[in-house]
Amino acid sequence: MEVIRDIPELRDWRESVEFDARRVGFVPTMGNLHAGHLALIDHAKRRADTVIVSIFVNPLQFEDPDDLARYPRTEERDLELLERAGVAAVFLPTEPELYPHGQKDIVRVDAGPLGDRLEGAARPGHFTGVATVVTKLFNLVRPDVAVFGEKDAQQVAVIRRLVADLDMTVELAIEPTHREPDGLAISSRNRFLDAEQRRQAPAVHRALKRAAESLAGGHTVAATLAGARHWLTQQGFVVDYLVYCDDERFEEQTRLVAHGRLLVAARLGRVRLIDNLPVHSPHPASVGSDR
Ligand code: PAF
Repeated sequence: MEVIRDIPELRDWRESVEFDARRVGFVPTMGNLHAGHLALIDHAKRRADTVIVSIFVNPLQFEDPDDLARYPRTEERDLELLERAGVAAVFLPTEPELYPHGQKDIVRVDAGPLGDRLEGAARPGHFTGVATVVTKLFNLVRPDVAVFGEKDAQQVAVIRRLVADLDMTVELAIEPTHREPDGLAISSRNRFLDAEQRRQAPAVHRALKRAAESLAGGHTVAATLAGARHWLTQQGFVVDYLVYCDDERFEEQTRLVAHGRLLVAARLGRVRLIDNLPVHSPHPASVGSDR
């Protein structure tokens, strides 16, 4: 596995791959790799001849300096996992390598109104930071296919719009959320849960599943969301949002739509968990609508 730390080296690697006409699969990450990332890598291996992973904790997408400072950095272990996963190359740039002029005055890629909703409202500037770094990484790596996880569903929607609106040619592949046996979505942030919080955490997924069943059973969106929010609060969570949205613009819906999604962000102490569940309705607005 090639460990690439600077841009000229990365360009060399990309040229050699181009020379062999190999299809490049790309998995951008912020490191602290877990089973969810390994599934993204497997997906990339099925879709490409060679796979490159990036590890970069992007300061531009953190609005809270404490959150950035405590984001887990586990380079040595990550490299071992990537080697074992059969990745061809890993790109590990430093902050000055990617942002040589600092972050303050750089040109950013605006994530548009989609980037201001839900996670974007809770974390102002977050999706612009994501769109900017993903654009830079796509320009540097020039992947044929890039793989992202459905766990960050709004991020996926932002990146789809980024690729479509800026006429990028990269293909996007989305891997379903990986879960622990008890349903908790696998995330780097789970390591911050203490034993009691870890026991409570699967309630987030249970709330979404029950809400999806409630909608399928013909209950209104408003009643379903109120019930799920109340239940999560009783389980000890502070709910930032629990909503039902269309799957493209992430606008809140009060009636069932063909391609919808339940999304939640809820806090247990200082740990903020997000999760989502697609809710596809073959008969939009015929059930679950406000009557
Ligand atoms: O999902 C992530 O890990 C990050 O948001 C990404 C896509 C690597 C950009 O920094």
